[in-house]
Amino acid sequence: MNDQAEALRNLVKNKMLQEESRTTRVVTVTSGKGGVGKSNFSLNFAITLQRLGKKVLVFDADIGMANIDVLMGVSSTYNLYHLLKQEKTIWDIVQAGPEGLNFIAGGSGFKDLLDLSQEQLDGFAEEIGKLHGKYDVILFDTGAGLSKETVKFISAAQETIVVTTPEPTSITDAYALIKMVKAMNVEVSFKLIVNRAADNREGKQTADKISLVAQRFLQSELPSLGFVPDDPNVSKAVKRQQPFTIAYPGCDATLAIERIARQFLDLPQDSEAGGGVKGFLHKMFKLSR
Ligand SMILES: Nc1ncnc2c1ncn2[C@@H]1O[C@H](COP(=O)(O)OP(=O)(O)O)[C@@H](O)[C@H]1O
Ligand SMILES: [Mg+2]
Repeated sequence: MNDQAEALRNLVKNKMLQEESRTTRVVTVTSGKGGVGKSNFSLNFAITLQRLGKKVLVFDADIGMANIDVLMGVSSTYNLYHLLKQEKTIWDIVQAGPEGLNFIAGGSGFKDLLDLSQEQLDGFAEEIGKLHGKYDVILFDTGAGLSKETVKFISAAQETIVVTTPEPTSITDAYALIKMVKAMNVEVSFKLIVNRAADNREGKQTADKISLVAQRFLQSELPSLGFVPDDPNVSKAVKRQQPFTIAYPGCDATLAIERIARQFLDLPQDSEAGGGVKGFLHKMFKLSR
């Protein structure tokens, strides 16, 4: 009996130690133009990373347009507003969504960040700092364009994912955004996602076009993380207030997000795991789940 209790204690302790020692990747998801699919991408990317074994937090940082909770069909009791007003701690406002995904809702009080006193701002930063080491990935879903807050998030994050669609207006706005950030001398590692591509070719052509221009005129590397096809299931899932990776697990958009997540984590793609011992183990693992 004692042995069992001891084993259990050790198990819990080790689990806690593991959780403490995570290296957190802080990622900002942004775009030049609005409505390109940032929030849907952030949410479903987060769910997929979690399915691949990572602990993830989605932080709704879209000022005035916070809607991650709406996309999940979850109503949030506490949000960023309560943290900023120092009514709640960071752990009070972290909530669990579908598949246990941790998220922080944006709420309506976000503009208050601008009027905070230095003391309140420090308190806010300290609370955010507590998240470090607790997650493998923290995703900030920001608003479109460059607001003061978005610049703050971009400069604080290690990686910034820029989402664009193949439409020329979206491409030029994405380029303008990268150019503005570059001009501020903020050290940022940009990555590109092309959303709503008609097919593989359009996805690749769009990514190549922006990368080339960024390289030539901004001396900025802009590696592509991949593309998500235009898929009617995305809109259907939004109407059902369910993430599309949950509502339509086999749809094209879901499969694309899975490829992107594997690329992001530097894991082998499913197709590569098709043969050999690796493929065998992979299939066995899948079957036993
Ligand atoms: N891959 C996609 N295929 C089809 N429609 C999409 C796709 N991504 C986004 N959409 C549509 O665009 C709308 C806006 O997406 P959203 O994630 O809210 O954009 P943003 O956060 O950039 O404003 C969605 O409600 C959906 O109808
Ligand atoms: Mg959004």
